[in-house]
Amino acid sequence: MITQLEQIREKAIERVRSAANLQELEQLRIKYLGKKGELTALLKNMGKLSAEERPVVGQLANSIREKLDSAMKDRTEALSREAMDLRLQEEALDVTIPGKTTELGKKHPMSIVLDETKEIFIGMGFEIAEGPEIETEYYNFTALNTKPGHPARDWQDTFYLREDSSVLLRTQTSPVQVRVMEKKKPPIRIISPGRVYRKDEVDATHSPMFHQIEGLVVDKGITMTDLKGTLVQFVGKLYGPDAKLRFRPHHFPFTEPSCEIDIMCFECRGEGCRVCKGEGWIELLGAGMVHPRVLEGCGIDTDIYSGFAFGIGVERLTMRRFSVSDMRLFFENDIRFLSQF
Ligand code: DAH
Repeated sequence: MITQLEQIREKAIERVRSAANLQELEQLRIKYLGKKGELTALLKNMGKLSAEERPVVGQLANSIREKLDSAMKDRTEALSREAMDLRLQEEALDVTIPGKTTELGKKHPMSIVLDETKEIFIGMGFEIAEGPEIETEYYNFTALNTKPGHPARDWQDTFYLREDSSVLLRTQTSPVQVRVMEKKKPPIRIISPGRVYRKDEVDATHSPMFHQIEGLVVDKGITMTDLKGTLVQFVGKLYGPDAKLRFRPHHFPFTEPSCEIDIMCFECRGEGCRVCKGEGWIELLGAGMVHPRVLEGCGIDTDIYSGFAFGIGVERLTMRRFSVSDMRLFFENDIRFLSQF
């Protein structure tokens, strides 16, 4: 029995010391010290020993158990330390690696100009109004004194959404004028920015979707001078005192008299170039005195009130503001272009 015990001692301690991991160690504990373990099994047979042998074997068994226990403890500690070292190594942070930077977006140039425009008009007492992009024929044309058969209504120019022409993508922001006047009594001073749609071919100054800013002022005693003063003031604030405007007589169904307003070409300063198609001037907006029929259609008494209105092209406004010579750049989403503003 003593020899058996000594064999267990040699083998067990050796195996504990070389255990590769905690599971293996646990298995060894069960194998030798567990209830059905080898050492336990031997000790169960102690009853068969003589009275002289028993204390000797007992002592040996106890010392083996203690040695095995302490070997296990040592090995457990060593294995845990190894595991911790490994984890520390794996999780080590290299604080010298450069950080990941998130690039911040920028405002689109047209949003910059739109914000500046709003600011200027709000400073002159205007409010911001909104209207739908899907419009009815009534608001887009009829209420704006644009009779059936007018060329602006042509299927070739307008994106109609219904076969009977009753619903369409608005071709201008002017219908917002009517929507505002139906709801609000004068004095009215609004601008209304938004998208508009026309079946235009794409080129440097045209796109089938573009942006306008509508303006409307209705009050007692409003005249063409108010229109001119407001727009000259606006353009001067946006572009600085050098910006030159040109007022040209024109025709719109919903204004009388009507005019178009051009700004001197930023590229050639009036000489004539590719950007202004040789004109020296670039059309910036349409305007005029609101036609009495439009006012009356909205229940506004034209004996008391008059008004002016205008529609500005935001793309062109922005092209002039930042000297961009091709409108398509605004819609291409090229970061190299957009990051310059
Ligand atoms: N709606 C016109 C267009 O799209 C622009 C315009 C002209 C708006 C005269 C107006 C205006 O309010 O009075 O070409």
